[in-house]
Amino acid sequence: MAAIVLMLLRVILVLVGYTFAAENGSTTRYCELVDSLIPGSVSYADNPVYRESLSSYYSGQESDLRPGCIFSPKSASEVSLFVKIVTSKQNCSISPQFAVRSGGHTIWSGAANIDGGITVDLRAMNTLELSEDKTVAYVGAGGIWSEIYAQLVPYNLTIMGGRVAGIGVGGLATGGGIHYLSRRNGWVCDNVYNYEVVLASGEIVQASAGSYSDLWLALKGGSNNFGIITRIDVPTWPQGLMWGGSIAFNYTHQVLDGQAEAFSDFMKPENFDDAADMGMALIFQNPGNVYAIGNSLYYVEAVENPAVYQPFISIPGQVGRQLVFANASTFPIQAGGTLPPDTRRAIDIVYSFKNGGPDIYSSIFESWENGTKVLAAIEGLQLVLLIQPHPVTNGTNSLGLPPSEKDIVLTVITAAYAHREDDEMVQNEMQSIIDSHVSLLKRHGLYIPFEYLNYADKSQDPIGSYGEEVKCRLQDASRKYDPDGVFQTQVPGGFKLFN
Ligand SMILES: Cc1cc2nc3c(=O)[nH]c(=O)nc-3n(C[C@H](O)[C@H](O)[C@H](O)COP(=O)(O)OP(=O)(O)OC[C@H]3O[C@@H](n4cnc5c(N)ncnc54)[C@H](O)[C@@H]3O)c2cc1C
Ligand SMILES: *[C@@H]1O[C@H](CO)[C@@H](O)[C@H](O)[C@H]1NC(C)=O
Ligand SMILES: *[C@@H]1O[C@H](CO)[C@@H](O)[C@H](O)[C@H]1NC(C)=O
Ligand SMILES: *[C@@H]1O[C@H](CO)[C@@H](O)[C@H](O)[C@H]1NC(C)=O
Ligand SMILES: *[C@@H]1O[C@H](CO)[C@@H](O)[C@H](O)[C@H]1NC(C)=O
Ligand SMILES: *[C@@H]1O[C@H](CO)[C@@H](O)[C@H](O)[C@H]1NC(C)=O
Ligand SMILES: *[C@@H]1O[C@H](CO)[C@@H](O)[C@H](O)[C@H]1NC(C)=O
Ligand SMILES: *[C@@H]1O[C@H](CO)[C@@H](O)[C@H](O)[C@H]1NC(C)=O
Repeated sequence: MAAIVLMLLRVILVLVGYTFAAENGSTTRYCELVDSLIPGSVSYADNPVYRESLSSYYSGQESDLRPGCIFSPKSASEVSLFVKIVTSKQNCSISPQFAVRSGGHTIWSGAANIDGGITVDLRAMNTLELSEDKTVAYVGAGGIWSEIYAQLVPYNLTIMGGRVAGIGVGGLATGGGIHYLSRRNGWVCDNVYNYEVVLASGEIVQASAGSYSDLWLALKGGSNNFGIITRIDVPTWPQGLMWGGSIAFNYTHQVLDGQAEAFSDFMKPENFDDAADMGMALIFQNPGNVYAIGNSLYYVEAVENPAVYQPFISIPGQVGRQLVFANASTFPIQAGGTLPPDTRRAIDIVYSFKNGGPDIYSSIFESWENGTKVLAAIEGLQLVLLIQPHPVTNGTNSLGLPPSEKDIVLTVITAAYAHREDDEMVQNEMQSIIDSHVSLLKRHGLYIPFEYLNYADKSQDPIGSYGEEVKCRLQDASRKYDPDGVFQTQVPGGFKLFN
């Protein structure tokens, strides 16, 4: 018996070794084949296009990976041809693994890049077109939201997407999406009329409420599990000047108490204002051993100092304030879009809960602060506790959340730091802060087992958090539209459906 097990293990080891070797070899052959059939679309390590693509990821964990080549398509038909090539058996060699990226803003290693495989970089597919009556925008999946908004400002229109410069269309719109208009209109994905998607077969389909509706629904939260999205069609929203910006506070007990109370009140349904999207952040920075508190306040109407924000604006202890009128493209650019200088590594961990009283927030603050003390010596550390309201969803998605609830809160703890050697320490301490938050919330019956995919860490299971029924529906859609499981095994990155 033991001998058989040992032999099996050896066979598996040999197979694994063989697979690695063959994959590397065949990656190069497939890269050459793609390059010969779609000339000029493939770049290698010695090429500036390849280097620019890698350096444009948000985190060091992603830019450190080294694909065998990068494929940069210009159209859905090029994506289709690519998928047909890499899923075809060539000379009995093993099909290469590949990764799909749009804005490259997912933090964790391998979500949208791949060592030794082929990375599909969609950023050249960034067109924006409007229907004749300007009510629908047709948006290339490789577009960058902050660049798209600026093109719509002259029409007094906007679309819903990311709130920080550099975030891509493809990832955000398939994982959920939180925008300034999300308290009014829901998740970004709730509003997608149509996804143009290249399936594992290479077929290009339009998935909407009227055709492939199961696929359409699956893509609203199902991430990269069903195909490569090449375009989304979304409603445009009238948008004139907005108002908002940020306030910075000294880190004192008085301010912490004021924030806990103001945020708890903000989240009460009786105080709901659908024009208001905001964040409350506690920040610790190792350089200088500095603590700070900040609010980012956004209001989608041209109203100065709206009543809903008075409780925050009137908290004493302010050390800086920039609250202004601006167009829809200005705020995301002001919000910046890179890691702090001298840090390349980052970790985000997310959880959700139902609003509670001020005491809940005070306890959350306290265990975060305790965590900063454990991590204080990590070089370059910036540890941020960011608390914000959930979108008020209308339920047209696969996220498994009940519609119309106004008092659901999302916390994301974000670490940025300098060195890979600190990964384990930072990860472990962040997890222990999260664990203490979750057990506190469970004790008070406030915990909601939803993990927002676009903020989730590799260690989390956002698709599992949608619930067994939704996950099962997503798995059915995968069996139907990707019967060979190309997007499960040949595209190993991202959150997968079968695990
Ligand atoms: C600084 C910062 C600010 C953020 N702010 C917000 C915010 O305001 N609101 C919000 O909702 N989220 C926000 N996020 C999270 C953001 O939504 C996710 O990082 C999202 O995945 C980014 O999309 P992307 O296209 O840039 O990602 P990528 O890293 O390129 O891709 C993310 C995942 O989606 C898959 N994917 C990408 N494009 C396609 C495609 N065309 N077809 C199929 N699969 C695809 C990838 O394979 C990968 O698994 C923020 C993130 C950062 C780092
Ligand atoms: C398959 O073999 C042919 C002929 O030797 C060669 O031209 C082609 O590049 C090979 N394709 C792959 C993917 O290896
Ligand atoms: C093979 O792939 C591995 C990662 O999968 C990579 O580290 C290695 O450099 C590659 N080797 C060659 C010869 O391409
Ligand atoms: C948006 O506003 C900013 C400053 O308020 C301005 O510089 C910019 O030109 C505006 N953008 C567009 C597209 O009009
Ligand atoms: C946009 O709104 C401004 C301010 O209300 C107005 O002056 C301008 O004419 C509008 N532009 C368009 C294209 O409607
Ligand atoms: C949710 O909003 C979308 C986009 O506005 C709309 O198409 C859909 O019908 C809405 N669903 C419900 C249940 O109201
Ligand atoms: C903030 O803290 C600094 C340093 O302790 C202090 O000098 C300053 O007066 C404080 N500001 C406010 C507005 O409380
Ligand atoms: C934070 O640390 C202090 C001192 O060790 C401890 O008394 C307190 O219970 C901790 N708070 C939380 C919420 O973990």
